[in-house]
Amino acid sequence: MIGIYLSGTGNTKHCVEKLVYLIDDKSKCLPLEHPQIVHILEKHYIIVLGYPTQFSNAPFMVRDFIKKNSSLWKGKKVFCVNTMGLFSGDGTGCTARILKKYGAEILGGLQIKMPDSVCDSKLLKKDIEENRQVVKNADKRIEQVAEQIRCGKYPQEGLSFIAHIKGLFGQRLWFYHKTLGYTDKLKISDACIGCGLCSRECPMGNIKIKDKKAVSGEQCTMCYRCISLCPQKAITLLGDQVIEQCRYEKYK
Ligand SMILES: Cc1cc2nc3c(=O)[nH]c(=O)nc-3n(C[C@H](O)[C@H](O)[C@H](O)COP(=O)(O)O)c2cc1C
Ligand code: SF4
Ligand code: SF4
Repeated sequence: MIGIYLSGTGNTKHCVEKLVYLIDDKSKCLPLEHPQIVHILEKHYIIVLGYPTQFSNAPFMVRDFIKKNSSLWKGKKVFCVNTMGLFSGDGTGCTARILKKYGAEILGGLQIKMPDSVCDSKLLKKDIEENRQVVKNADKRIEQVAEQIRCGKYPQEGLSFIAHIKGLFGQRLWFYHKTLGYTDKLKISDACIGCGLCSRECPMGNIKIKDKKAVSGEQCTMCYRCISLCPQKAITLLGDQVIEQCRYEKYK
């Protein structure tokens, strides 16, 4: 078994690692942007795939990765894990349907509430104690699910036709244009001091440092990693001001 994930603020990384290590403590977990990921995945047959919900869809980078490596999935058994701030409908189904098309068997799906990673909007913001409770609840749920999986039972969250309808009409249709591809809408303010952290951390290699300032390209997958890490709070995407940077480590 191997765990792979896209994680902007650490939520999904934590959930995938906790689940996978509880099922089999000898298994590895790696980020999707690992340079050898395709080669490593070729050697594994059971895959736990984790990613955050974005507008009730999977991040474009995750869908793109699955499609670009379409021949990788034939004969693989995949368990989809989706983290969310509030609601995802069929967050797991969004990748499960594509993976099935390429010959994977879907073992099941798990959708877990975690702190909301959008840190440049006041909407849905919880205080630190509430977020700590959210993480505690998530941990409990992961422990239950790991026990079930060890007994051979996989939850099927987000994979039903009803879940598909909920995801589609609950949100995905209304924000369809937001998740059609990568975005060029990342904003970097004059507060940038050119430290390079965002550039080093971006899973897409979307940020370059030019003349001691960060410059965004057109390949942002909206993970919010750079936004949550920038020491100057100089980066925004959906909003115009960073309210409170979100990192899983703050809530554990
Ligand atoms: C661009 C964007 C869109 C999001 N859309 C949703 C959403 O539709 N529903 C939801 O419940 N959470 C949504 N979230 C919150 C994240 O899914 C959630 O915080 C997730 O746990 C972040 O995981 P990560 O830290 O591993 O990236 C969104 C986050 C971002 C950055
Ligand atoms: S992390 Fe912030 S301050 Fe550092 S280079 Fe990036 S935008 Fe500039
Ligand atoms: S530019 Fe920032 S938000 Fe966009 S993919 Fe890179 S780290 Fe994530």
